[in-house]
Amino acid sequence: MITFEHVSKCYMEGIPALNDISLHIDEGEFVFIVGSSGSGKSTFLKLLTKELEPTEGTITVNGTNLRKLRRKKIPMYRRNIGMVYQDFRLFKDRNVYENVAFAQRVIEESNRTIKKKVPMMLSLVGLAAKYRSRPKQLSGGEQQRVAIARALINEPKILLADEPTGNLDANNAWDIMKLLEEINARGTTVVVVTHNLEIVEAMNKRVITLKKGVLMDDKYPGEKNA
Ligand SMILES: Nc1ncnc2c1ncn2[C@@H]1O[C@H](COP(=O)(O)OP(=O)(O)O)[C@@H](O)[C@H]1O
Ligand SMILES: [Mg+2]
Repeated sequence: MITFEHVSKCYMEGIPALNDISLHIDEGEFVFIVGSSGSGKSTFLKLLTKELEPTEGTITVNGTNLRKLRRKKIPMYRRNIGMVYQDFRLFKDRNVYENVAFAQRVIEESNRTIKKKVPMMLSLVGLAAKYRSRPKQLSGGEQQRVAIARALINEPKILLADEPTGNLDANNAWDIMKLLEEINARGTTVVVVTHNLEIVEAMNKRVITLKKGVLMDDKYPGEKNA
C-alpha cells in the first residue's frame, strides 16, 4: 500500500534529511518509525501526505505515484490519510463534538450522517460522555483521543501519528498506543513515529529505525535485535 523507492529529500542541497530510502508497508500493517531527533521521521510522514516532494525517488500510495498526483487531486488523496500530532492540534474554541464533526463538514457530509457518526467515533475512543467539553477541560490523553477520533471519522485507509504520546505521561501514552492498536485491528494501516522505546519494545510490532536520514534497521515482530 505504501512503497518508497530510492527516496531522498534534501531541504538544503547536498544535505539529505532522508537518504535513499526504499521500503514497503502492506495494507493492514502497524509500523513504528523510531530514531533520534533530526533523523528524518517527520519528513517521512510529510512526504506521504504530499506536504513535501522528494528530491529523488518514487513514492506510491494505494497505487498512486505521488509525483504524478495533480494539485487538484491532493485534497481527495489526503482523505485516505488521517494525521495525529504530538500537540493534538484541536480547535480550542470548539467543543469535542465540533472538533470531530469538523472533519466531516470539510468533506460536506450531511448533518444526518454527522449526527450519527460523531457519537460513534467518540464511543470508540472512550469519550462519548464528554462531547460538550472544550479541549482545555480535558486531560492530554483525552485531547489526543479527540484528535484520533477526528483523524478517523472520514474512514481513512491510513493513520499517521507523529509522536502521538510525546506530551503524555506513561499511563496515558500506553492507553493511546493500545487505542492505535485497536484501530489497526479494525483494518486501518497505522504508522507511528515515536521516541518511546519502552512502549515500542512491549508492543512487538514492525520497527523501522532511521539514523541521520538513513534506514538503519527494519525489524519484524519476533526478529532478534541486530
Ligand atoms: N523545513 C525545513 N528546512 C530545512 N531543514 C529541515 C526542515 N525540516 C526539517 N529539516 C531538517 O531535516 C532533518 C530531519 O528533520 P525531521 O524530519 O523533522 O526529523 P525528526 O522528525 O526525526 O526529528 C533535520 O536535520 C532537520 O533539521
Ligand atoms: Mg519530528
